[in-house]
Amino acid sequence: MPLLRLEAVSRDFDVSRPWLNRVLEREPRRALRAVDRVDLEVERGETLALVGESGCGKSTVARLIVGLYAPTEGRIEFHGRRMQMIFQDPYASLNPRWRVRDIVAEPIEVLGLQEKNSINNRVSDLLVQVGLSADDAERYPHEFSGGQRQRISIARALAGEPDLLACDEPTSALDVSVQAQILNLMTELQRRLSLTYVFISHNLAVVSQVADRVGVMYLGRIVELAPAAQLFARPRHPYTRLLLDAVPDLQMSGKPRTPVAGEVPNPLEPPPGCVFHPRCPHANQRCRVERPAVIDSIACHAVEEGRI
Ligand SMILES: Nc1ncnc2c1ncn2[C@@H]1O[C@H](COP(=O)(O)OP(=O)(O)O)[C@@H](O)[C@H]1O
Ligand code: SF4
Ligand SMILES: [Mg+2]
Repeated sequence: MPLLRLEAVSRDFDVSRPWLNRVLEREPRRALRAVDRVDLEVERGETLALVGESGCGKSTVARLIVGLYAPTEGRIEFHGRRMQMIFQDPYASLNPRWRVRDIVAEPIEVLGLQEKNSINNRVSDLLVQVGLSADDAERYPHEFSGGQRQRISIARALAGEPDLLACDEPTSALDVSVQAQILNLMTELQRRLSLTYVFISHNLAVVSQVADRVGVMYLGRIVELAPAAQLFARPRHPYTRLLLDAVPDLQMSGKPRTPVAGEVPNPLEPPPGCVFHPRCPHANQRCRVERPAVIDSIACHAVEEGRI
């Protein structure tokens, strides 16, 4: 049984204009479908990465997984004890007026995971586990660098003794060299603590370092899902190919990447058929009218027909 299963999960946001404008201008309510019928299974101990351009629904999936949003449709099953989330911006997610001790101790206290008199020891242990020192407990978030602050976020997440961590762009705000340190830390913690990660990033180089499996998202859908090595060596969906073509440099040397050609369509008016068809070099008439089903973890008519 997988640790986590999403079954046809969708999430709509109401982006209607205020009531009065709608009445005066006879506008209907408008819903934006941020996540569209996503199926996903996450196995214990693995790192499942979700990639895709900005706005494709990655953060919404992460928030659905940890329960910050409820699905509009579909089902989410979690067969573990607890989950925690790590966010991109560690400063925004750490209360600036609290000492590190209180930030890290909060989940322990809320969940009642330790006796009162052992909480300080537990906080010290956690800080050491993430590469900080026990003395750092007395300091405030602003006294730390970005990378150190992300270590504090990780310590806080671990304090809740999760089985699953949903990590939303956890290194995207950091310098390349610091990114590598945080990724190494996360890999080491995963091994030591048998953690399962859902790892979200727009950066394929980062994903190639950590992922066991990769799901590629486009306009709220997962268009291809495959073991990482396979996906990087033999991408099959035209969008995955386009994404990989735009990354000449998977070694994270920090060289600028070429942007992916073409524009992501307006999510309020997604194209009919395959949502990728306006950008796809293999699109034909069927693609313009029929939504491709997910077959062997790929949603593409051309792949199904053996055209590509
Ligand atoms: N709270 C919200 N209200 C309205 N629209 C939202 C909200 N959150 C996300 N969206 C929209 O949903 C889509 C997916 O957003 P998001 O999940 O943040 O994508 P990503 O993390 O891949 O950049 C985007 O079009 C975004 O504008
Ligand atoms: S279904 Fe058609 S338009 Fe969509 S990715 Fe496949 S070939 Fe391209
Ligand atoms: Mg996001």
